[in-house]
Amino acid sequence: MQLIDGKAVAAQIKQEIAAEVAQIIAAGEKRPHLVAVLVGHDGGSETYVANKVRACEEVGFKSTLIRYEQDVTEEELLACVGRLNIDTDVDGFIVQLPLPKHISEDKITEAIDYRKDVDGFHPVNVGRMSLGMPCFLSATPAGIVELLRRYRIDTSGKHCVVLGRSNIVGKPVSMLMIQKGYPGDCTVTVCHSRTTNIREICLTADIIIAALGVPEFLKGDMVKEGAVVIDVGTTRVPSDKTRSGFRLTGDVMFDEVAPKCSWITPVPGGVGPMTIVSLLKNTLLAGKRVIYP
Ligand code: GUN
Repeated sequence: MQLIDGKAVAAQIKQEIAAEVAQIIAAGEKRPHLVAVLVGHDGGSETYVANKVRACEEVGFKSTLIRYEQDVTEEELLACVGRLNIDTDVDGFIVQLPLPKHISEDKITEAIDYRKDVDGFHPVNVGRMSLGMPCFLSATPAGIVELLRRYRIDTSGKHCVVLGRSNIVGKPVSMLMIQKGYPGDCTVTVCHSRTTNIREICLTADIIIAALGVPEFLKGDMVKEGAVVIDVGTTRVPSDKTRSGFRLTGDVMFDEVAPKCSWITPVPGGVGPMTIVSLLKNTLLAGKRVIYP
C-alpha cells in the first residue's frame, strides 16, 4: 500500500501558482483577486472559508471575505452577486454552501456570472465539463483527477466506482472519469443511497471514489486486492483528543481498507488540500482570462 499525499502535492502546486503570481506582478499586471461570500456561522463553512482565504494569501492573491448573517434575504444575496459580477477588480468569487433554507442555492448559483464562477458550479461550467470543453472544473473533482495524474495512476479501461451522487462531487467526478483521455477512459458505476448491492459492486472496482459523507462507510471486505481508493469524506465527528473538539473522518475505514490497496488517500491530508488548490488554479485562470477571454 502506498499513500497518496495530497498535502505534499498541494504544497508543490501552491509553489507553482506563487511563482506564476510573482511573474504577473513583475510584468506590472493585476494581482488575481478571489472573493468569498459566507452566510451565517456554520463551523465547517467558517473553517473552509478561512482556509481558502489563507491559501490566497500564501500564493500572493488578493482575497476578500464578505459576511452576511444567517437571516440575510435572498434578494440581498442576489444583489451582492450582481455587484461582484460587474466589479472589474474581482476575477472570481464563490458563495460558500450550504445556504440557509430560505435561500435557493440554485438561484444564487445561476446568478453568478459563469466567467467568474471559480467553484465551477454554474450550469454553463457543469455543461461544458460534461462536453469536455474548457471550463472552470469544480474544485474537488479537479483535485481528485490531479492527484491521479501526479501519481501517474493508470485509469484506462479500469472500473471506477463512485460512491455518492452529489452535484459537487459524485456527479462531476463520474463525468470526468469517463472522459476520453487521461486521467479518464474508465468504465464508471455510480452508487448511492438507493443502490442495493454496493458491496458486490465495490468488489469489482479497480478505483473507488468514496464521496457519500458517511463516516467509515467503506469497509475492508468491500474492496478487492490492489484497488485504488480515494476518500472524499470530511465529516466532523466529536473528539476529546483534539483542541478543536472534533476530528475529520473519511468515508473509508482506513485501517481495514488500506492494507488491501495499491494506493489510498488519507483523511486529513488527501483530497482536502487539493480542493483548495483547484480553487486557486481556477482563480489564476480567471485573472488571466484563459478560459473565457
Ligand atoms: N461547500 C462545500 N464545498 C464547497 C465548495 O467547494 N464551494 C462552495 N462554494 N461551497 C462548498
